Amino acid sequence: MSSSPVKVGLLGLGVVGGGTWKVLARNAQEIARRAGRNIEIVAVAVRDVPKARQMVGEDVLVTRDAFEVVRHPDIDIVVELIGGDTLAHDLVMEAIQQGKHVVTANKALLAKHGNEVFAAAHAKGVMVAFEAAVAGGIPIIKAIREGLSANRIQWLAGIINGTTNYILSEMRMKGLSFAEALADAQRLGYAEADPTFDIEGVDAAHKLTLLASLAFGIPVQFDKAYTEGISNLASEDIDHAERLGYRIKLLGITRRRETGIELRVHPALVPMERLLANVEGAMNAVQVYGDAVGGTLYYGQGAGELPTASAVVADLVDVTRLLAADPEHRVPHLAFQPDAMDDIPILPMSEVLSSYYLRLRVEDRPGVLADLARILADCEISIGSMFQEPHSVNDADIIFLSHQAREGAVDLAMEKIRTLPFVKSEVTRLRVENLL
Ligand code: NDP
Ligand code: HSE
Repeated sequence: MSSSPVKVGLLGLGVVGGGTWKVLARNAQEIARRAGRNIEIVAVAVRDVPKARQMVGEDVLVTRDAFEVVRHPDIDIVVELIGGDTLAHDLVMEAIQQGKHVVTANKALLAKHGNEVFAAAHAKGVMVAFEAAVAGGIPIIKAIREGLSANRIQWLAGIINGTTNYILSEMRMKGLSFAEALADAQRLGYAEADPTFDIEGVDAAHKLTLLASLAFGIPVQFDKAYTEGISNLASEDIDHAERLGYRIKLLGITRRRETGIELRVHPALVPMERLLANVEGAMNAVQVYGDAVGGTLYYGQGAGELPTASAVVADLVDVTRLLAADPEHRVPHLAFQPDAMDDIPILPMSEVLSSYYLRLRVEDRPGVLADLARILADCEISIGSMFQEPHSVNDADIIFLSHQAREGAVDLAMEKIRTLPFVKSEVTRLRVENLL
C-alpha cells in the first residue's frame, strides 16, 4: 500500500458532503485497504465556516472560496457537492483545467452540460465520476457502464426520484396530504434545494438523460426529455388504479425503437405484481433489459446522507485506484468510446408507444359509450378494458384501459372526445407501463 494519501477537496458539506465526510472517517481503514492508499479530505468549501469547523476540526482548510479548493496545488481530486448548474459548472470546469479529477453527485449539471464536461475531461486526461448522480446508493452507473457492456440494451425503466416515490407511498399508505409528505421528504434530506425539481419530474429527467447516454451511447440530451411530474395527479386516479390492479409510480423510461429512442418521465400505472410497483418510500429501483442478459433489476436507497455518500466514496476509491493508469485504459465516461457515440434521434412524444388509462365524466344515457368507442376505433386505439361508475343520477365516470397505441393517436382521440356534447369533464390521461 502506498504511504502517501490521496488528497481530496470537498465542495459542500451539506447532506451529501456531510455524509461523505462521515463515511470516509468511519470506514477509513476498510476504504484504504480497497483503494491501496488513504483518502484524506484536506480542504472544504462551504458558506457557513463555523458550522463546518465543528464537523471537520482544525486540521482541514475551511474556506468560503470554493475556487481556492479547486486551485489548491496539493489536491488530487475535487468532490463537487454544492449542486446547481452555474457555480458548480464553473468549479468543475476549472478543476478539469487544473488537471484535477472530479467526483460529483450533480445530475443537474451533467444532464445540461455533460457533453462539454466529459469532452474537457477527456482532452485533459482526467476522470469525472458521477455514480451518486443517479439513484443515490445504487451502483447503477457501474452496472450499465461495466457489468452490462456485452449487451445491446433495449430499454430501462426506473423509479429514480426518492422524494416523489416517498410522497406517493406516504399518501397511499398513511393517508398523508401531498404537502405533509413533501415536508417530511425535505426534513429527511431527500429533496433538492428547489423541490419543484423533484415534484415536476425534472430531477428524474436529469438522471434518465444520463442513463440513456450510458445505455445507448448517445450524447446527453436533457432538452429532448419529456418531463411530467406528480403535482397534477388526482387521488381518485390513485384509487382507481389500485382497484384495477395497478400502482401509480413516477417512472423514467428510455427505450430503443426502430426509428429512435424514447426518453420520458411521467407518472405511470404499473401492474401491482411487478417488482417496481412495490418499491416504496425513498427507495429507488431500475430495471434494465439487455439482449443477452434479459431483465435485470437494481434496488436500494435512492437519496439521503449515507446512501449517497456510499456512491461518492465508491467513486473516490475508483479514481484513486486509476490515478496512475493511462487515460486510454480507463472506462469511458459515458460507457462508449467518445469517437463511437451514435446520434440516434430522440423520438417526439407523439411517436411514443404505450398503453393508456383514460378517465372522463359523461352524461349517463344511451349511445354515449358507442360514440366514445367509435372515436377510439377511428384513431386506431384498441380498448383493453373499460369500467363505468355512477357519479350522480345523470352522470357517470368512465375509465378505459387501452392496448398499446401511438401517443399521437391518443392526443387526437382526446381532442375529438373533448368536443362531444355529453362529455362533462377534462379527459384524464395516464400511461400504463407493463414493463415487458
Ligand atoms: P445541501 O444543500 O445539503 O448542501 C449544499 C452544500 O453546498 C452546503 O454545505 C453549502 O454550504 C454548500 N454551498 C452552497 N453554496 C456554496 C457556495 N457558493 N460556496 C461554497 N459552498 C456552498 O445539498 P445536498 O447535499 O442535498 O446536495 C448536494 C448535491 O448532491 C446536489 O447536486 C444534489 O442534487 C446531489 N444529490 C443529493 C442527494 C440527496 O439525497 N440530498 C442525493 C443524490 C445527489 P453551507 O452548509 O455552509 O450552507
Ligand atoms: N432529490 C433527489 C431524490 C435526491 O429525491 O431522488 C437523490 O438524487
